[in-house]
Amino acid sequence: MHVLHVVGARPNFMKVAPVMAAMDGHPNIQQILVHTGQHYDANMSDIFFRELGLPQPDLNLEVGSGSHAVQTAQVMVRMEDVLLDRQPDIVLVYGDVNSTVATAIVCAKLGIPVGHVEAGLRSFDRSMPEEINRLLTDQIADVLFTPSADGDANLQREGVAAERIHRVGNVMIDTLIRLLPQASFDAQHWPERYALVTLHRPSNVDAPDMLRQILATLAQLSLDIPIIFPIHPRTRQRIQELGLSPANTHLMLQEPLGYLDFLALQRHAAVVITDSGGIQEETTFLGVPCLTVRENTERPITVTLGTNILVGQDMNRLQEEVAHVLAGDSKTGQIPPLWDGRAGQRIAEIIGQRAWQF
Ligand code: UD1
Repeated sequence: MHVLHVVGARPNFMKVAPVMAAMDGHPNIQQILVHTGQHYDANMSDIFFRELGLPQPDLNLEVGSGSHAVQTAQVMVRMEDVLLDRQPDIVLVYGDVNSTVATAIVCAKLGIPVGHVEAGLRSFDRSMPEEINRLLTDQIADVLFTPSADGDANLQREGVAAERIHRVGNVMIDTLIRLLPQASFDAQHWPERYALVTLHRPSNVDAPDMLRQILATLAQLSLDIPIIFPIHPRTRQRIQELGLSPANTHLMLQEPLGYLDFLALQRHAAVVITDSGGIQEETTFLGVPCLTVRENTERPITVTLGTNILVGQDMNRLQEEVAHVLAGDSKTGQIPPLWDGRAGQRIAEIIGQRAWQF
């Protein structure tokens, strides 16, 4: 059986790695890895392949950046040729990025079965590009792998047949568990106590007023605790466009970091402030307090069971919650069920047994 995996953007790489590793050596499975090239900078892509031990992609479609329509369309056009040429038995797509939905649509039209890893997550906020990608991908996927029970419930409510849904756990946490022992904290380089920040959502960084407010708040918070802020290229662009230069000696702007360095920084952080999806999950697993600068989350289990608090876009609330953490009063949590390092193996078994053919 030929399985073709498609990845495009940074958060996809941690998700494909455990699935490929579990399928490696499976007697009935041959794998092909296609990178759409949605993320192309060395520090957004290459370093992850190295650190995660991923094979070099068999193909890179080099779609690069563009508007949503352009990027999605480029993936579709180029992917169609690849799929016609390679004729895989099943395609696996990951997460909620433009490359995910673009590939799923092409598969559906060609009649090639498609499996969605990390299915069923919903923020119920259709102004988020990723929510549209999730809804569409899940409607047309043939087999859906969910990380938690809320994913199953969302899919069933949307009419997805129960036999297509497999709750396998969280593949991103598989990678975290495997690589945590290698993620060593560099005490020479970083302060002993710090907050770690990442921001890249359009709702935070594309609205100039919001971005200004966030940066001013961070600059102020950094007087109480040093802040390490690896900057996503989208955010860097916006900061430059607005001519803002928020850096001071306590607000440390960094280039995007590799997986191992960032994981070490998360584990050691007093608090993480983010608008990322995956980081809400990683902090929950690590038991590190997480303040999410969003009004909603597609990963509610990180709030109900984990260490995550949604502070919304309310900067006063953010400051209050940071003050709680600094006063030693932070939210504790539990690790959700099936976040156990074996999600990739469960997916490999299901695919290997052809449990997705009806
Ligand atoms: C994408 C995903 C988002 C994910 C994020 C992780 C979609 C809709 N969004 O957002 O869900 O959380 O990746 O990083 O798929 N750029 C570079 N170098 C790169 C990649 C991007 O400079 O290697 C710049 C480009 O100017 C580009 C901008 O960043 O226009 C945004 O990149 P894009 O892939 O469109 O979306 P992300 O914001 O990265």
